[in-house]
Amino acid sequence: MDQNPYHVPVMTAEVVELLRPVEPRLLIDATYGGGGHTRALLEAFPGLSIVALDQDQDAIAQAPANPRVRLIHANFAFLETIAAEICGGRVDGSSVSPCVDGVLFDIGVSSHQIDEPERGFSYRRRGPIDMRMDRDAELGADTIINEWGVDDIADVLWRFGEERLARRIARAIVAARPIRDTAHLADVVKAAVPAAVRRRKHPARKVFQAIRIAVNNELDSLESGLEAAIRWTRPGGRVMVISYHSLEDRIVKRRFAAGTSGCECPPDFPVCTCGRVAELRSPVRKPLRPSDEEIATNPRARSAVLRVAEKVGA
Ligand SMILES: C[S@@+](CC[C@H](N)C(=O)[O-])C[C@H]1O[C@@H](n2cnc3c(N)ncnc32)[C@H](O)[C@@H]1O
Repeated sequence: MDQNPYHVPVMTAEVVELLRPVEPRLLIDATYGGGGHTRALLEAFPGLSIVALDQDQDAIAQAPANPRVRLIHANFAFLETIAAEICGGRVDGSSVSPCVDGVLFDIGVSSHQIDEPERGFSYRRRGPIDMRMDRDAELGADTIINEWGVDDIADVLWRFGEERLARRIARAIVAARPIRDTAHLADVVKAAVPAAVRRRKHPARKVFQAIRIAVNNELDSLESGLEAAIRWTRPGGRVMVISYHSLEDRIVKRRFAAGTSGCECPPDFPVCTCGRVAELRSPVRKPLRPSDEEIATNPRARSAVLRVAEKVGA
């Protein structure tokens, strides 16, 4: 196992095996983090070069120089432009020439982000209410928590945390202002929920997840990034996504299902008239999950789901 304390990569062996039939020479690691996946892939495939993105300045700053890796500080929401530049194509669709052998998204937060109190991602550590992965971004969690109205906060908690007590918690947040730091926010959430809920998982868990997703616009970025990845992956290449909660996984599952389905004509049509052909195929029957051994050594892997789709076409 990779001992890099910045982040322990998840399902590395599975990612490598899924790429073996592709014999990759050029991959995009859309979420470099501590670089664990990138390192494992470079080791497994000697002729490989990687273009690695991360929107967190810390991830880029800690990365060692490597002639086989081009690091870019960027949000994968802009993958369309980045991949077009890599492939030398034009974005207007007139001369699209996909050239990438695969794209890996290992989404969510790194251990470094969670473990550094001053990043404000953890309800277990006292720090500023921030949660921005990209510290140049304008919106921080503090604005949502200390400035937004009850309706908008409740909407975030409901949509991105699937929190059934969203309105009750939002009211408590607004009433407790100013909320000083993450520990204060966690206490406010805890006090807002019934005792029976408090006895289960920490009630701030879903609230912090929801605020983080809103601050970083995570679901919209995933949709845009995935679209670009599929477009710029060459036939036979593979797009892989490791996600950690159902909201992300649903986006990936639906997009891959739409890509593999092909013809959308009603089943009673004798011939296809819509002309839609499948752009993807599934190289594995089911999404992959980490082994019990991996979860035992790295508990943060337990919620991971790895989905893969292969680009088809000539
Ligand atoms: C789970 S970690 C990735 C760990 C990495 N695979 C490794 O082996 O160390 C997720 C990383 O993705 C980055 N990230 C999340 N969303 C992103 C986005 N939309 N664009 C670019 N980077 C993103 C985070 O900043 C974080 O460093």
